[in-house]
Amino acid sequence: MAVPRTLPRLVSPAEIYEGLDRYVIGQARAKKAVAIAAYNHLKRVRARAMGTKLLARKSNVLLIGPTGCGKTHIARTLAHLLDVPFVVADATEYTEAGYYGKDVEVMIGELFLAADTEVAATERGIVFIDEIDKIARRSHGAVTGAGSRDIGGEGVQQALLKLLEGRQIFVPTNVTQHWSKHDFVPIDTTDILFLCAGTFSDLHLYSGGTRVLGFGGGTAGKRGPRITEKDLLRYGMLSEFLGRLPVQVQLSALTDEEMLDILVKPPDSLLKEYAELLRLDGVAIRFEPSGLREVVALAKRRDTGARGMRAVLEEVLSDTLFRGPELAGQTVVVDAAFVRAQAEKSGA
Ligand SMILES: Nc1ncnc2c1ncn2[C@@H]1O[C@H](COP(=O)(O)OP(=O)(O)OP(=O)(O)O)[C@@H](O)[C@H]1O
Ligand SMILES: [Mg+2]
Repeated sequence: MAVPRTLPRLVSPAEIYEGLDRYVIGQARAKKAVAIAAYNHLKRVRARAMGTKLLARKSNVLLIGPTGCGKTHIARTLAHLLDVPFVVADATEYTEAGYYGKDVEVMIGELFLAADTEVAATERGIVFIDEIDKIARRSHGAVTGAGSRDIGGEGVQQALLKLLEGRQIFVPTNVTQHWSKHDFVPIDTTDILFLCAGTFSDLHLYSGGTRVLGFGGGTAGKRGPRITEKDLLRYGMLSEFLGRLPVQVQLSALTDEEMLDILVKPPDSLLKEYAELLRLDGVAIRFEPSGLREVVALAKRRDTGARGMRAVLEEVLSDTLFRGPELAGQTVVVDAAFVRAQAEKSGA
């Protein structure tokens, strides 16, 4: 048996969690679940490389949570931590085979490219499938009037089943050539880890209509009721599909405290980013706690989770950034008054 040149290093769940923790604020349950799933993934991959096979089922993960709460961020961070190839796929871009759009097998082709066309590396990669709620089955239009937006959804779920479970897929070895001239190489997806994510933001419309789930920005900070498998089925996810995503984690909307931490704490935080940009102009910037709270308050009005903070900061600092060179040598103090004044000016 060919011994692979490189085995991914076995990193403990605690180490993976710690790595995630530096960049992802809050969402402890999701970070823990992902750390365990990633660890099992590494074990499985190493076992196979040594010629054995684990009995344990693959722990593909489903992340459910409101927009901008860190689902994609967790997956991306994980990819940086682990020494395995990684791709992000958008479920809405895929269609059933034979329809106009991408075949789900294309995501394995993309993983193959991310793995520098190395088969063994591809077979231990991670595929993150975003917007998974957008491929819910919508058979007869209106539960609510909002239905029937994606007729192909069910077919895409069906097509994904075999990938999630483990199948041999033939991917083109040379994407620059014309399709018909490709050479194909078989990739076994058995050990590829799939992380799926979705907001399921209108889930309450499909869950009997009586409960209102605590999603959507207005309720940020409150922990919504648990979403059950039954809710997801009613929403239009196939039970076979959910069955292949045994680890299901619900993320919560970020609290104000967490939003503040996101501004300040991660090594690549927004504040550090802007401070660095201005430092290049010789401008110092000081963020007062009152100013940061105001940024959070403005961002929350946008209902886009942490994503809104970049837009708010961009507007609040646009004058400063524009005048960077002429402000050289000065210190800009960002307090509540500054944030309010600048936001008003830019119509935020
Ligand atoms: N928990 C968090 N910790 C640190 N940063 C975060 C967190 N959540 C979100 N962010 C920041 O906000 C940005 C948007 O978050 P992300 O892309 O993960 O949202 P999402 O949950 O995938 O939302 P969507 O459902 O809209 O795709 C990230 O790039 C990151 O900078
Ligand atoms: Mg996302």
